[in-house]
Amino acid sequence: MNKGIFITFEGIEGSGKTTQGKILVEKLKREGFNVLYTYEPGDTQAGKHIRGILLNSEIRINPLCELLLYFADRVQHIEEKIKPSIESGFIVICDRFTDSTFVYQGYARGISIDLIKRLNKVILDKFIPDLTILLDCPAEVGLKRNQKINKKDRFEIENLDFHEKVRRGYLELVQVNKKRFFVLDATQSIDKISEEIYKKVKSIISHGI
Ligand SMILES: Nc1ncnc2c1ncn2[C@@H]1O[C@H](COP(=O)(O)OP(=O)(O)OP(=O)(O)O)[C@@H](O)[C@H]1O
Ligand SMILES: [Mg+2]
Repeated sequence: MNKGIFITFEGIEGSGKTTQGKILVEKLKREGFNVLYTYEPGDTQAGKHIRGILLNSEIRINPLCELLLYFADRVQHIEEKIKPSIESGFIVICDRFTDSTFVYQGYARGISIDLIKRLNKVILDKFIPDLTILLDCPAEVGLKRNQKINKKDRFEIENLDFHEKVRRGYLELVQVNKKRFFVLDATQSIDKISEEIYKKVKSIISHGI
């Protein structure tokens, strides 16, 4: 059996990750592909508890504690869901992954990027996506979209400057991982973005990365 493909969605809050991830899943399923849609943090039984702490802005946690909780969630997620699905030939689509840790805890919260790199190597054995779709838009655009739906977790309550740092962090990651990232202008219409994503994913399925 062929190995599956691991695709991640990244971008600031309100950039459209969940919207686009779900559209992609539907399109691929309609064509008969085996697809797993998953997300971070929290898509395992243990992960749900971890997510409860991570996203509750009323629980005080220090930045290193936050970082390690994200890694704890990811270890469980990879072992329980992502790896077994890829090994059985599924296309795995994950809403946020390690790049989120680099930009939120590293670039935006100020934890050493080198420490995150080392943890990533030791704890996850550098488990890396085949393709990462970055939905790029100004922080203002994403936050306005989320305000409309009244979302307020630990990150939504951060100011515009924090989210701009996150955006810039992503764009820096792109510079050192050009082959893996597919960057899209997330201010375009939902349909236009989903068409471009589908074209890219189909080309990877047909011709490899
Ligand atoms: N291209 C787009 N144009 C206009 N509105 C959009 C677009 N993409 C998504 N939206 C809307 O913006 C809101 C946020 O989208 P979505 O939940 O997909 O973002 P997200 O990146 O998953 O956010 P979060 O990081 O908070 O989970 C939703 O109401 C969605 O319908
Ligand atoms: Mg989302």
